[in-house]
This record gives sequence, structure tokens and C-alpha cells, in this order.
Amino acid sequence: MTVLDIPELALVALVGVSGSGKSTFARRHFAPSQVLSSDTFRGLVADDENDQSASADAFDALHHVAAIRLRRGLLTVVDATNLQPHARAGLIRVAREHDVLPVAIVLDVPEAVAWERTEARADRTHGRQVLNRMRRDLRQSYGRLAREGFRKVHVLRGVEEIDAAEIRYEKLF
Ligand code: CTP
Ligand code: MG
Repeated sequence: MTVLDIPELALVALVGVSGSGKSTFARRHFAPSQVLSSDTFRGLVADDENDQSASADAFDALHHVAAIRLRRGLLTVVDATNLQPHARAGLIRVAREHDVLPVAIVLDVPEAVAWERTEARADRTHGRQVLNRMRRDLRQSYGRLAREGFRKVHVLRGVEEIDAAEIRYEKLF
């Protein structure tokens, strides 16, 4: 079992390609109200969870809700791919503005697993090239996360390690 230590109050960014199991992980370890998902926010601002043209507005709204939650002292999890530095920078900024520790949890599964899962979903239509680009972004993310300001970077490699992970909350004081 891999134990992930997380401060009781944190902004947790899940990081992983489509099909890596972020939403599944979030459902298993956190309450629904603690999880802000980019899909949900696209749905809220565009009536379509897959409308990529709504991403800027969706993240605007997601950041706003995250900021309010952190101000109220509530642990918040961001379920989005978080593969690009600019996407993560927005989260680091929100966390810093509220003196909350940003934490990254990276889910890294083999390409075949991610592809198989993605292909099986009717609500995911991107091709393998998009997935490959995401995997390249993931590789580049590894060296950057700590430097960007994530105070803890937990990496879970492979389906078994992801399935066996447990969260342990650290008291802040
Ligand atoms: N899945 C699975 N076994 C797991 C984890 C996920 O069979 N241990 C399945 C889920 O049921 C889902 C698919 O794989 O149908 C993708 O998992 P999901 O958690 O939705 O992956 P995400 O990383 O959230 O993918 P996306 O970025 O596309 O939202
Ligand atoms: Mg998801």
C-alpha cells in the first residue's frame, strides 16, 4: 500500500492523461463536494462537458469556486488533466493567494491502459494522437511540478499502485 500524506487543508491537483483514472480516484478518496472537475464546469458553463471551446470559462469558474472553498478552509481537489504548466500555474496561484499548500498526485498508467479505457467511453472522442500528446506533456511535467510550487508531489505508477493508494491527512498544527 502506498500512503499519500496530504495536509488537512490543501489544494490537490490530480495530474494524468485521459483514462489514467483521475475521476475514479477522486470518487474513491474524496467526497463529491470536494472535487471540482473540469468536465462538470464545462457542463455548467456550456451545457456540454466535452465542449473544449468552453474550457477558458470553465476554468475561470472552477478557480473561482476553488478560491472560495480555500478561503473557507475546505480541502479541494481539482479533477482535470493538469498536464500543462499554464493550467497548473492557475492552481498554484489560487492556493498561494489563500496560504494553502498545493499538492500534486500524478497518476501514470501504461499507454495501452489509458487508450483502452478512453476508447471504451462514448463520451471521449479524441484519437490516439491526442493521447500521445498528453503523454508527452506528462513526461515533461515530472521535472517541473516541484519547481512550479507544488509542496508535495506524489507519483502513482501503474494500475496496481493507484488501486492500493490510501490518503493520510496530516494535521496542520
Ligand atoms: N477505470 C477502470 N478501472 C480503474 C480506473 C478507471 O476500469 N481502476 C475506467 C473507468 O470506469 C472509466 C475509464 O476507465 O470508464 C476512465 O477512468 P476515469 O477515472 O474516468 O479516467 P480520467 O483520468 O478521469 O479520464 P478523463 O481525463 O478522460 O476524464
Ligand atoms: Mg475524468
